[in-house]
Amino acid sequence: MPESPTLSAGLDRDAVVGWYRRNRERSRAIFDVIADDAYYSQPIALRHPIVFYEGHLPGFSFNTLVKKGLGRPSIDPRLETLFARGIDPHESHTQPAMSFPQPAARNPQSGWPSRDAVRAFAAEADQQVIGALERATLEKPGDPLLDRAEAVFSILEHEAMHQETLLYMWHRLPFDQKRTPAAYRPRAGEADGRVPSQESVDVPAGRATLGVDRGSIPFGWDNEHPACVAEVAAFTIDRHDVTNASFAEFVDAGGYREARWWRPEDWQWVQAERVTHPLFWERYGSGWHWRGMFELIPLPLAWPVYVSHAEASAFARWRGARLPTEAEFARAAFGSPAGERSHPWGEDHPTAEHGVFDFSSWDPKPAGSHPKGGSFWGVEDLVGNGWEWTSTVFAPFPGFQPMASYPEYSADFFDGEHFVMKGASPATARELLRPTFRNWFRARYPYVYTTFRCLKNDR
Ligand SMILES: [Fe+2]
Repeated sequence: MPESPTLSAGLDRDAVVGWYRRNRERSRAIFDVIADDAYYSQPIALRHPIVFYEGHLPGFSFNTLVKKGLGRPSIDPRLETLFARGIDPHESHTQPAMSFPQPAARNPQSGWPSRDAVRAFAAEADQQVIGALERATLEKPGDPLLDRAEAVFSILEHEAMHQETLLYMWHRLPFDQKRTPAAYRPRAGEADGRVPSQESVDVPAGRATLGVDRGSIPFGWDNEHPACVAEVAAFTIDRHDVTNASFAEFVDAGGYREARWWRPEDWQWVQAERVTHPLFWERYGSGWHWRGMFELIPLPLAWPVYVSHAEASAFARWRGARLPTEAEFARAAFGSPAGERSHPWGEDHPTAEHGVFDFSSWDPKPAGSHPKGGSFWGVEDLVGNGWEWTSTVFAPFPGFQPMASYPEYSADFFDGEHFVMKGASPATARELLRPTFRNWFRARYPYVYTTFRCLKNDR
């Protein structure tokens, strides 16, 4: 499969049709995990019920490419409105979607269509989208949606990103509301895996390029443009992500009981919600357990801890360190004395030996199991096995312009409340693994597959 359909000699139709079909097959497989009686449930209160997403994915693609991009008529205006816009992983994380009537959000079953109706709508949307990808004019210089085939890439990446949202939502469902896939291999017994010894890696001062100029890659979201350069001072950074073993030291030391490690707003949350440990951890008897996608297992000490930004920053402060900035992450991941790389490991296309991404696993793997994916400096797992929190507030690069195919994608979140995450998780599609890709969440959103590592400036 090509990395990304190239635009140099026109859009490669076979590549985009293939990508769309692969996306749809994966989404179907993800929805197949859900038991029928969970279809109208709402595993995370700030998200829509599951039914929404089965209509939203093909609905967004139809609306963006076929209706807005090509100016063709509706399939079903009522369903298109209903499925128009949810709360994305990259969207608001404290407000229910305003695009859907509030009573239905409280009572998920009322007002939502039957699954057959959703699937019939999805089938028609798919047929029209695939027809357009196969035959329509997809690239028109100067056209707001079709310049550089923006609408095509938007719909492809939108679906890939949602697949990760779906999986972390599914993660919160009771096990008896999920069907374990036949190929799933139980992870119990991994609690005893070797915990890598943490080391500090020195990274010299240098430049980090954030973002990329529009037109110099086949596609980037608006928040990735334009390129800007940051001068980064020397630092030392953890070779490995913070593991469950390390994080347990913070928990055991009473980290969740001492205000001094937390930002005031985060401490308020800890107290109000009585947060005492990472959401993925559960206490049974005398020991911690990990809530995996399909089973509860004794806490795998070597796996990266998944926590909110609030918890990550508190841990870092307790350790006398801090989270990396977005620029420091970029320097650690992509910098080298010979210039910046496309991936931490260099220019090779991402494969399973470089890290845990592209749906290769339902849960993380032990930290440090992919040394071939290490950066020039020897920092490991920067891309894969969990997104990584940075201390950088999500904001536009100078010269930012919202994109025509999805103008609210980033602009709605430049509110000073969201923090940039970089890298990738096990549920991040390979197509999204580019150095400029940015993800963002609120500080106290604990559901995502996100870990962190610590950094210091004194060497
Ligand atoms: Fe969406």
